[in-house]
Amino acid sequence: MTAPPASHPTPPSGPLRLWRHVRLATLAPDAGWGMVERGALLTEGERIAWVGQEAALPALQVDPIEEHDLDGALVTPGLVDAHTHLVYAGLRAHEFEMRLQGASYEQIARAGGGIRSTVAATRAADDDTLLRLARERLAVLQAGGVTTVEIKSGYGLSRADEARCLRVARRLADSGVTVRTTSLAAHALPPEFEGRPDDYIDAVCEWLPAWHAEGLVDAVDAFCERIAFTPAQVGRVFACATRLGLPVKLHAEQLSDCGGTELACRHSALSCDHLEFLGDAGIAAMRAAGTVAMLLPGAFHFLRERQLPPIERLREAGVPMAVATDHNPGTSPTLSLPLMIHLACVDFRLTPEEAVRGASVHAARALGLADRGTLQPGQRADFALWRLEHPRELAYWFGHDACAGTVAGAVRSLR
Ligand code: NIG
Ligand code: FE
Repeated sequence: MTAPPASHPTPPSGPLRLWRHVRLATLAPDAGWGMVERGALLTEGERIAWVGQEAALPALQVDPIEEHDLDGALVTPGLVDAHTHLVYAGLRAHEFEMRLQGASYEQIARAGGGIRSTVAATRAADDDTLLRLARERLAVLQAGGVTTVEIKSGYGLSRADEARCLRVARRLADSGVTVRTTSLAAHALPPEFEGRPDDYIDAVCEWLPAWHAEGLVDAVDAFCERIAFTPAQVGRVFACATRLGLPVKLHAEQLSDCGGTELACRHSALSCDHLEFLGDAGIAAMRAAGTVAMLLPGAFHFLRERQLPPIERLREAGVPMAVATDHNPGTSPTLSLPLMIHLACVDFRLTPEEAVRGASVHAARALGLADRGTLQPGQRADFALWRLEHPRELAYWFGHDACAGTVAGAVRSLR
């Protein structure tokens, strides 16, 4: 019997599966798209054991339990949607119409609409309704190639309602998609704390340890903005997160330059998100902290923003750029990460390769997950299958449904 692949001594640590007759875009570091024509993948349990040309497949000591002929599909790493607000009730199409007639997002928020209207609808919905709605949304994301999703709270804004939303998000893990949950209790001021933002921040700092103790929180986010919380208030939430050993991230410089990015970077933030009004000091802070710039072209498009994030300066500074849907009912009601890849290229001038890396390997980094986002031995066996000739078409088509299915932890879901 021939020796097994050197990197994988026998016996295998899980069932072997062979995925053959594929064209691979591995996104391996420094290799462009990392294309492998006439490729194959071998998975062992939930991990990738071997990647290469099918003709070079090593002889195995144990037969694979399954062989999947993928019929020439293009295979990329499973997409990672690292910024969503998936759990909520109620829609805001009427606000969309108001904005089309000239009202601004800020004006609507200050008049009691915006996030607060979604909070009222979410509080009024029971858990089963929240779960059903979020499950339907996640199924659409998954049908677009997503195998890992981050889900924020932030539409409960009370101890009980925030916990409820986080529990609902956790339950979505039974879909096969990896779910990471983020507490965004510091999203907006709930009506019962009107005029008392500092008291609300005190309350959030009191609730966070309980949510953490229940295992509901992977990271802590906040909205730092004129219509939300000041850097000083966000700093108190971050100090609390840091005491609990939780990583932080921030909705930063979306509508104005508040200096939130520098604050977040002082707390070694995983990512700073939106960033339309980011200045040079913020870019330098991100570079020094190794923080990911999370670009959200859906919100930019939907709010008809004109101020672009400083893409060229982020690129020059070597700050990794990620792309996500920011799915939420107020500023980005989209459920297509491939569409965000397209918008990131057309509106933000990312290259197709940058945008696809942004929705895979850089997005994984924004979640602190080093084990996914490329097709390499040792990585999680999460991939997306596409009816496409070349991965650049992920950016080329828009509103086009090219995903033929996903494989998550070596388990296939067909479309
Ligand atoms: O990421 N910017 C703040 N939060 C959301 C919008 C929330 C809402 O309007 O409901 C965002 O764009
Ligand atoms: Fe958001």
